[in-house]
Amino acid sequence: MGENALLSNIKAAMPERRAHFRRFGTLMEFDKSRKTVFSGIQPSGEFSIGNYFGALKHWAAMQEGVNPIYCIVDMHAITVPQDPETLRRRTLECAAVLLAIGIDPDKSLLFIQSHASAHAELAWILNCFSYMGELSRMTQFKDKSQKLNAESIRVGLFDYPVLMAADILAYQTDIVPVGEDQRQHIELTRDIAVRFNQAFGDTFTVPEGRYAEIGTKVLSLSDPSKKMSKSDENRNSYVLILEEPESILNKFKRAVTDSEPEIRYDPKAKPGISNLLEIYAAASGISVQDSVSQFDGLGYGELKKRVGEAVIEELRPIQEKYAEFSKDKAYVDSVLKAGADAAREIAASNLKIVQEKVGFYSL
Ligand code: TRP
Repeated sequence: MGENALLSNIKAAMPERRAHFRRFGTLMEFDKSRKTVFSGIQPSGEFSIGNYFGALKHWAAMQEGVNPIYCIVDMHAITVPQDPETLRRRTLECAAVLLAIGIDPDKSLLFIQSHASAHAELAWILNCFSYMGELSRMTQFKDKSQKLNAESIRVGLFDYPVLMAADILAYQTDIVPVGEDQRQHIELTRDIAVRFNQAFGDTFTVPEGRYAEIGTKVLSLSDPSKKMSKSDENRNSYVLILEEPESILNKFKRAVTDSEPEIRYDPKAKPGISNLLEIYAAASGISVQDSVSQFDGLGYGELKKRVGEAVIEELRPIQEKYAEFSKDKAYVDSVLKAGADAAREIAASNLKIVQEKVGFYSL
């Protein structure tokens, strides 16, 4: 299908309205010649620098020359047990973090997944075009369900990737910037889109994943054989976006290295040092190679200190902005409201096309 076949379908169906969305009461242009970028994040509490360098930083960088749509996926969050008040609070905090890292509501559409009911409706239809077999092969599902008794694995956890496919396909997304851990879900989304298109003619844009090269795999500071994770029991293994500078520096100073003195990039032989070099490169926006040359002749102690300082510098303006946004609920709400209105309009118009294709009667 032509790149924007779906968009022209929509245009035919909704001649004037499709190219625009409302923001703060003003009609904004949603440029059809641009690629649509969509990504989602779970409001699961504090975010680590792994989330930041692996995904969020790229979201902020991907707002020019595209139609960016960023979604806080609260419906995905409830695939595991949540305390309602905590989820509500974290959803607002997540929005403030996204604004603080530089998601600009004048360029991007920022909204909460449950505010656009078309996601759930499309997910139902896509469920009817997805197979138990392919969902059973998702490694994230296997990992998450392993710890559970087979009888008590929730259907939502199993079906998680289909809702994710609905998120993406509801906006005719071209590009999905995500961490490497989402690759299998993106492949599944593409398979579902192609399957649907084959059955009903061109309907969905088949999206492409965009996986960041640097920083996608920020590793644990205390055990560089593992990914950095904020659910790690050892608090020294991860650094949070909103963490105090002093605490950040201490964690880097304690980072596990190796017993050779030489600073070089070799993820197999020197995972700890290589992880520090990658974090440094990601924080200072230079290549890993250039980072290595900057540290030529220095010891591990100095390396750790400088990596910590670079991370603190990178996070400083984010933390300042977060402090402001977290004091201004009315502003954050107004951004989310405008985002929800726009998202609803786009997703509903795509859903309508899908409903017609599968044979739902319309009045
Ligand atoms: N599953 C993603 C994650 O855990 C979050 C997500 C939900 C998402 N829907 C999405 C990412 C759509 C990209 C596009 O990171």
